[in-house]
Amino acid sequence: MKGIILSGGKGTRLHPLTKITSKQLLPVYDKPMIFYPLETLLAGGIKEILIIVAPDRAGDYLNLLGSGKDFGARFTYEVQDKPEGLAQAFHIGEGFVGNDSVAMILGDNIFEDDFGDVIRNFKSGGHVFAKKVADPERFGVVKFNDQMQAEKIVEKPTEYLSDYAITGLYIYDNKVLQAAKELKPSARGELEIVDLHNWYLDRNELKVSIVNGAWFDAGTPDSLFKANQFVYNKKTL
Ligand code: DAU
Repeated sequence: MKGIILSGGKGTRLHPLTKITSKQLLPVYDKPMIFYPLETLLAGGIKEILIIVAPDRAGDYLNLLGSGKDFGARFTYEVQDKPEGLAQAFHIGEGFVGNDSVAMILGDNIFEDDFGDVIRNFKSGGHVFAKKVADPERFGVVKFNDQMQAEKIVEKPTEYLSDYAITGLYIYDNKVLQAAKELKPSARGELEIVDLHNWYLDRNELKVSIVNGAWFDAGTPDSLFKANQFVYNKKTL
């Protein structure tokens, strides 16, 4: 399985912190933020990783992460010219993914859980991970039926749907490349990742598991602070 870390975007919700650097390079306690999603992929045995970055920050990523040798992996870099949606990663990464399946993780997502077994045992379809949160309207949200099977997934629902956010780790088989080609931009002009989940859901091929440990999308001042606090507590207390 190949890995993608999506680490572009403008990080506007973290201005002025992100005026001079990329959000995913900001510190989370003692490491740059991107180390956490990188370690999640490495723990799953993924050794070939594509890092997608914004044009103005590409050099910083190369300086920090290099070839991947120090991590026992091989890194490839691609530039996303404009942040036109998470699912665009599968256009940019088409050649890199080739005929393999792929695990994509967002560069600002920090997971406590180890997904090693899930990644190693993945066979086909799509597999995404949900977490109960207090502020579901900030995320892609999944509604489950009585048997805890996913029924519906909506990006930032304006009306209450459920408390379960879809976190930023997505495992797909190779069909995702085709599915991404069929996508049309949403009303906000982005290629939406939830449309890919729904592509698999419509075919009865989407598995949604629950994340047991802590999870942070560190993209706002509050969540960045909480992520720092969590890592600090885990390491020092
Ligand atoms: O964190 C989980 C959530 O991530 C999911 O629940 C949502 O379904 C998903 O859309 C996403 O929501 P966000 O509001 O967090 O998306 P955001 O635009 O902040 O982008 C997430 C990360 O991806 C962020 O670190 C920047 C990067 N990004 C984003 C876009 C739109 C890119 O690299 N390129 C892009 O085109």
